[in-house]
Amino acid sequence: MAKISVIGAGMTGSTTAHWLAEREIADIVLVDIMEGMPQGKALDMTEAMPIIGKDVSILGTNDYADTKDSDIIVITAGLPRKPGMSREDLLVKNANIVGSVAEETIKYSPNAIYLILTNPLDTMTYMTMKKTGLPASKVIGQAGVLDSARMSAFIAMETGVSVTNINCYVLGGHGDSMVPLTRHSNIAGVPLEKYMDADKLEAIVTRTRKGGGEIVGLLKTGSAFYAPSAAIAQMAEAILKDKKQILPCAAYLNGEYGQEGIFFGVPVMLGKDGIEKIVEYELNDDEKTALQASADAVHASVETLKGLVEL
Ligand code: APR
Repeated sequence: MAKISVIGAGMTGSTTAHWLAEREIADIVLVDIMEGMPQGKALDMTEAMPIIGKDVSILGTNDYADTKDSDIIVITAGLPRKPGMSREDLLVKNANIVGSVAEETIKYSPNAIYLILTNPLDTMTYMTMKKTGLPASKVIGQAGVLDSARMSAFIAMETGVSVTNINCYVLGGHGDSMVPLTRHSNIAGVPLEKYMDADKLEAIVTRTRKGGGEIVGLLKTGSAFYAPSAAIAQMAEAILKDKKQILPCAAYLNGEYGQEGIFFGVPVMLGKDGIEKIVEYELNDDEKTALQASADAVHASVETLKGLVEL
């Protein structure tokens, strides 16, 4: 059995373990600084395995030595947003947390592939690459799967069509300037405009961009966790099963989409080696302009990071 260590056993971390166990693709180690909490959640989940009929070992711990030889490390450690906060407001606190987690985990699993969930996502993924020293293909940020799923869910709610027929693609940074690509999205191959008028579609684009904030506003004490963690489980399965699945993820760009030196949401092929290919869409001028605005925001965040920590 493969091994996945999930760092941070809070809302997103424990829910990631839950979705992973359902998929029965790896044994799981749940790590947190809080004493007893990861152990308690892991034991509770272990006691659910006979009910759901999955042979998965789930270990809760405060000791990074237990993560030794992980195939995948998932980083969820860090603070979530509260109402009124942007993801960028988390930068200072989460940079220190993610930096230390990256340094601790790479010691025990030098060959792991990293999946990052902590916000601000694109910058924390950059931080992880720098702190682990891993090649870019092995450090992947989760954002696009979630943002695209949100858009698909809103389209399903509007049209009544099965979510399995809806294909949406949201690229760019994981912030309010993310870019839902309506022209590339479709319902069973039919363009979205055939199902709804332009105003409706624009409202869905706006709701997608603000999707994380909508949940924060409702929960009041934290941010979304079911859908973000489900996205991590899908990415992990694509890697462990070497599926060559194309999913929108935050990948380090070296000229693709006209960007260099940042992690940015683009379609990538996921397989056993991590990011095996970056897929380039043909974009029109409006789409390029929107992506550039989003990239500018990510560049600014990375510059802030460089001013805060030594990389
Ligand atoms: N090492 C390990 N765990 C840590 C560390 C650390 N250095 N620092 C904090 N943690 C743990 C906390 O103890 C907590 O249990 O990270 C966990 C975070 O859990 P939550 O507070 O429930 O936050 P969550 O909703 O999971 O969000 C975590 O993911 O989606 C992003 O924006 C979100 O940045 C946030 C992160």
